[in-house]
Amino acid sequence: MSSIYEEGALIAAAAGARERAYAPYSRFPVGAALLTASGRVYTGVNIENASYGLTVCAERVALWKAVSEGEREFVALAVVGGDRAFTFPCGACLQVLAEFGPDLEIITGRPQGQILKERLKNLLPQAFGLRSRRPWR
Ligand code: THU
Repeated sequence: MSSIYEEGALIAAAAGARERAYAPYSRFPVGAALLTASGRVYTGVNIENASYGLTVCAERVALWKAVSEGEREFVALAVVGGDRAFTFPCGACLQVLAEFGPDLEIITGRPQGQILKERLKNLLPQAFGLRSRRPWR
């Protein structure tokens, strides 16, 4: 765990973002908070669409906000979804996050409660890459 952040604060940022989720179809709001190596936090929410398949997850919104601001190095991603079960990023989001490195710490928490942590490389050990050896290996 990096010393530049406190995981509870990152979960709180994700929970705060979750309030702004646009999820009228699933009624399953998700919030994410992505911490950069420079110490900035970018939040994201799921944004659904009447054409359901166009929905985008909170994790990718956070990543796209950060990357589009010039960020490339990430330390941790917190996700807060439903309170009945822990929400880890879906497979599509893991692949997109893996583009920027395997060591990202994924932290998931219920809106109020226990926290689980796992490194990205353990959630998606064989992320797709165009080269047999990915840049970060
Ligand atoms: N969702 C996320 O935003 N992140 C996840 O990790 C899993 C699922 C969203 C997509 C959709 O809006 C809703 O949750 C239900 O699938």
